Amino acid sequence: MSLKRVIVVNKTFPQVGLDFLKKEGVKTTVIPYMDHEPESLPEIKKNINGYDGIIWNTRHRFDAEIMDLAGPQLKAVTTMSSGVENMDVKEIQKRGIPLGNVLQVLDNAVADIALGLIIAAARRFKEGIEELNRNEWKYGVQWMLGTDIANSTVGIVGLGGVGQAIVRRLKGFDVGKFLYCGRTDKPEAKALGAERVPQEQLLRESDFVILACPLTPETKNMINADCLKTMKKNAVLINIGRGGLVDQEALYVALKEKQIFGAGLDVVQPEPLPNDHPLLSLPNCFIIPHLGSSTTETRNQMAIVSAENILNAFNGKPMKYPCF
Ligand code: DGY
Repeated sequence: MSLKRVIVVNKTFPQVGLDFLKKEGVKTTVIPYMDHEPESLPEIKKNINGYDGIIWNTRHRFDAEIMDLAGPQLKAVTTMSSGVENMDVKEIQKRGIPLGNVLQVLDNAVADIALGLIIAAARRFKEGIEELNRNEWKYGVQWMLGTDIANSTVGIVGLGGVGQAIVRRLKGFDVGKFLYCGRTDKPEAKALGAERVPQEQLLRESDFVILACPLTPETKNMINADCLKTMKKNAVLINIGRGGLVDQEALYVALKEKQIFGAGLDVVQPEPLPNDHPLLSLPNCFIIPHLGSSTTETRNQMAIVSAENILNAFNGKPMKYPCF
């Protein structure tokens, strides 16, 4: 392989990924910015030209303009995420450039976060912490009652790798029944004891509704005001997919008016969420700042998989996780 050059778009890309590429004789350049820094997009556009590979570790949109700026020598593009909603997949495919993403290595970390959110939302952690901070701990027999996971019905929207890891974990919680919905039957569902049902039924019957699917034009705002009205009064909504799956104004109303019991969100729209956002004012809405895959081990593995995607393409092999 002649000397190849890869640009990595995010200064926090793990060093192990850079070392891995270096060991394979690839020269890397790292854009010295993170997503939220205002200079990041202009700086990316100014510097993106002339590379053989791009690791697009940012939520900025990757589209025709970026590809034009990158130049005709571009041979491979990968994200360092499972989500590719910021990538113009059709345009990349049209230009014949392999595109990869990162699957599997983050399933356990994201599933752990889902479990954390389930317990936090079902057992009212946010409200409890706020009362403590206000010095208003009013202990009593009926104080701060939550809702049980044991014997509940758990509905998973999207039984992919993460959804399956969530079910495996919840098996230890004596859940009564697992339902799932999604585009296809999942062969793994049988062993997990999960039954495929239409989305409407899942929303109607579940005590916990867990969104674990990608954001696509079809899934955008899939949880809207009507869906929230369909859900049980004691239901808890968990989102570890993408903020865009939920109509947040409708969720605000549903939580405020106690149409549902609570929500636990790892992902919101926009990210970062401004600190005066109405959802943050709700005691029954537990929000964390997109921590799904945030463990050292997982992020290191994600960096290596994205590097492998690029190297495979350079070597004329299929990417480890190709998007098409
Ligand atoms: C992903 O990889 O898409 C996850 O959201 C990261 O936490």
